[in-house]
Amino acid sequence: MSETVEKIQAIEANAASAIGAAETLAELEDARVRYLGRKAELNDILKSIATLPAEEKGPVGKAGNQTRGKLEQLLAARQESLETAELNQLLEQDRLDISLPGSPAIGGGSLHPISRTRREIEDVFIGMGYQVAEGPEVEKVHYNFDALNHSPNHPAREWTDTFYFQDDVLLRTHTSPVQIRVMEQQPPPVFVIVPGKVYRRDSDATHTPMFHQIEGLAVDEGITLTDLRGTLLEFSKAIFGDQREVRLRPHFFPFTEPSVEVDVSCFKCGGKGFLKDGARCNLCKGTGWIEILGAGMVDPNVFSYVRESGYDPETVQGFAFGMGVERIAFLKHGIPDLRLFYENDLRMLGQFESFGISSGGRV
Ligand code: PHE
Repeated sequence: MSETVEKIQAIEANAASAIGAAETLAELEDARVRYLGRKAELNDILKSIATLPAEEKGPVGKAGNQTRGKLEQLLAARQESLETAELNQLLEQDRLDISLPGSPAIGGGSLHPISRTRREIEDVFIGMGYQVAEGPEVEKVHYNFDALNHSPNHPAREWTDTFYFQDDVLLRTHTSPVQIRVMEQQPPPVFVIVPGKVYRRDSDATHTPMFHQIEGLAVDEGITLTDLRGTLLEFSKAIFGDQREVRLRPHFFPFTEPSVEVDVSCFKCGGKGFLKDGARCNLCKGTGWIEILGAGMVDPNVFSYVRESGYDPETVQGFAFGMGVERIAFLKHGIPDLRLFYENDLRMLGQFESFGISSGGRV
């Protein structure tokens, strides 16, 4: 056997043991470069065949090519087993138990019925050209009572009705103080609505210590009670349906004169007071009317507090109204207990998911 063929056999034995000894893909690659790469000894031998004596050319070429083929097979086999081992190790480390049950899909959230109702009401007035204003919930007695023409002994001032921080600082009992704040900030004309939280010491099925109001204020030259009536009629139709009527009943508020309570014709019985089967309507208690808010013409005494901002009681008139958002939502949806709005029971809130109220372009 020629020396060269022996050499080839020795290379094959070394290479086979190097391949077998490779523990990683990187070590295997080193062995491949060393024994089968461009600069490998076997390569040099195969390239030098042309220079060998004629009788050696055949055996050396044959042995060289056989060795190369064999080493390529060994490399491929070792590569496959190293890759499998690597994969198994990864699987062992990153174990994922696909037999565990997945977490249930989380449903989308939805607006609270109070937020939706507030936005629906806002949209109606924004559509009539009103702007939305806000004011502080922690308020001065001056804005909550004094500037709204409450007499010094008005019962709402009592600590039994109202939450006080100090003698002159309280949690506002209504959104009306923002009327004064808005007028201090801007001269007439003003057309604003004021949504917000208000607080009273009250708690039962129809009263919660915190609830939401929406105040309205319109001031300009020549505003009349008829404007108030027309505005509230439009509002009532938008919220309670096209066929609605409104009626104004005389009432008293310290800051409006005259003052009224506003009723909307009952949207359950259509104002008749009884249902199709002849039974008395339980929503309007057979009267055909449902009270929805308080309102009135701004009292000239109120303007006198903001005279310096351009409100001369001799030249401007205005109307104001205030409604409870919970009350509107509860009338519309027949919710039996106001406290349900605050318990955050998803069985209750889930019923309002397709409430159908526009978001006013906001989310
Ligand atoms: N602020 C009054 C209340 O809370 C409602 C109201 C507002 C009445 C504006 C007249 C005008 O009862």
